[in-house]
Amino acid sequence: MSKAGDWRNYQRVLLPPVKDLHKLEVYEANEGYAALRDVVTTDKWDPTSVTNEVKKSGLKGRGGAGFPTGLKWSFMPPVDPDIPRFLCCNGDESEPGTFKDRQLMEYNPHLVFEGMLIAAYAMSIKTTFLYIRGEFADWITLMEKELEKAYEKGFVGKNIMGSDFSCDIVIHKGAGAYICGEESSLMNSLEGKRAYPRIKPPFPAQKGVWGYPTTINNVETLACAPLIIRKGGEWFSGIGSEKHPGPVLYGISGHVNRPGVYEFPTGMLITDLIEEVAGGMRGGKQLKALIPGGSSTPILRADMIEGVTMDADSLREAGSMMGTSGMLIMDEDTDIVSWLRRITHFYHHESCGQCTPCREGTGWLENIVTRLDEGEGNLRDLDLLIDLCSQMEGRTVCALADAAAWPVRYTIDRFRSEFEGKCKKPSPVASAELATA
Ligand SMILES: Cc1cc2nc3c(=O)[nH]c(=O)nc-3n(C[C@H](O)[C@H](O)[C@H](O)COP(=O)(O)O)c2cc1C
Ligand code: SF4
Repeated sequence: MSKAGDWRNYQRVLLPPVKDLHKLEVYEANEGYAALRDVVTTDKWDPTSVTNEVKKSGLKGRGGAGFPTGLKWSFMPPVDPDIPRFLCCNGDESEPGTFKDRQLMEYNPHLVFEGMLIAAYAMSIKTTFLYIRGEFADWITLMEKELEKAYEKGFVGKNIMGSDFSCDIVIHKGAGAYICGEESSLMNSLEGKRAYPRIKPPFPAQKGVWGYPTTINNVETLACAPLIIRKGGEWFSGIGSEKHPGPVLYGISGHVNRPGVYEFPTGMLITDLIEEVAGGMRGGKQLKALIPGGSSTPILRADMIEGVTMDADSLREAGSMMGTSGMLIMDEDTDIVSWLRRITHFYHHESCGQCTPCREGTGWLENIVTRLDEGEGNLRDLDLLIDLCSQMEGRTVCALADAAAWPVRYTIDRFRSEFEGKCKKPSPVASAELATA
């Protein structure tokens, strides 16, 4: 059953239907910067109460892992005036099937700035970075222009709104690789180094940018902060699924009539999102499979989604994950093996090469899936692929290796007959057995 309540009458809050909302004057006229003003100029709030309100809201990170945001903020060490501390807003968005942060950056950039400033206040941070995917050139220009206006108005910078809170926002153009979105790699990239992920621990809150305490949050996560302060943590926790609440941007792509980014509560039935929100399957075709939250989340067959809702618990039970809520919808004509071939190519291309299981493993995944797709594989290749996945998962510096292995593992598990159908060659064992028969 849907946990999204009366979603048909849902009023959008992250991307409300307001013309020119990206402009500072329009944003301000629509309650923009009111939450920040409340936080920095009244004695209603202090850093702890802001963090507690975010904890109360139940907000879970929208960058993929779904980590509780308020808890993450509270990992920052006590303030030491001699030690700088940083916030990074992760706008690198490069995972196949994920395209929701760019909508916020284009249509509601000040909500992102305001969220960054509120988070910075909660963690007593004076310098924040907005790391934007380098290819988003137009939105970088747009955000730089809008940020300049916010500085001129005294909403960012020294003594914000006349208060004793000062904080800068620095926009940083990403280095053009998927791995730059992994948080520790993002920090290296920001420091001007090659974007190699770092071994954890130490975690960013202990040793982050230039070795100083740092928090990294996704764009959409931070955009929720002003709404939580303005309307209250309780309001937020009352939206959608009880254990994974709030508004969420569903990026729906693939074989539907109306692909796009849709804001609704968490806990929507997958079937409602496909049939009603995205206008149903293209050309009246049948649904074959879907990926619920970006290419690294396990694929689900059509027969696995009955009653499944878009929240962590329901998707876990169904055998997948919420990830970034970027939903890839595939119809009955989709060649699953060819699809997997493209995905394995992506991860092979994007591996940073630092760890052997990932550098070599992603290449072998691509090679073997390619030969299966071309009808040159045999049944033993399927076992080989699963074995390869086991050699990669949990054995590397960052989660890219897992993200590369899971699509292979779960696609074979859930669509084995499609792979078998492409295995034209007898397996070497079978040939040997034949020879001795
Ligand atoms: C290979 C890889 C790429 C990632 N890319 C992004 C990204 O583009 N944007 C993002 O917000 N998180 C990305 N993440 C997750 C981040 O490491 C981090 O968990 C996230 O930014 C934390 O934000 P949140 O707590 O608000 O969800 C990526 C992780 C991995 C392993
Ligand atoms: S797992 Fe892959 S992407 Fe991550 S650090 Fe190792 S080689 Fe680089």
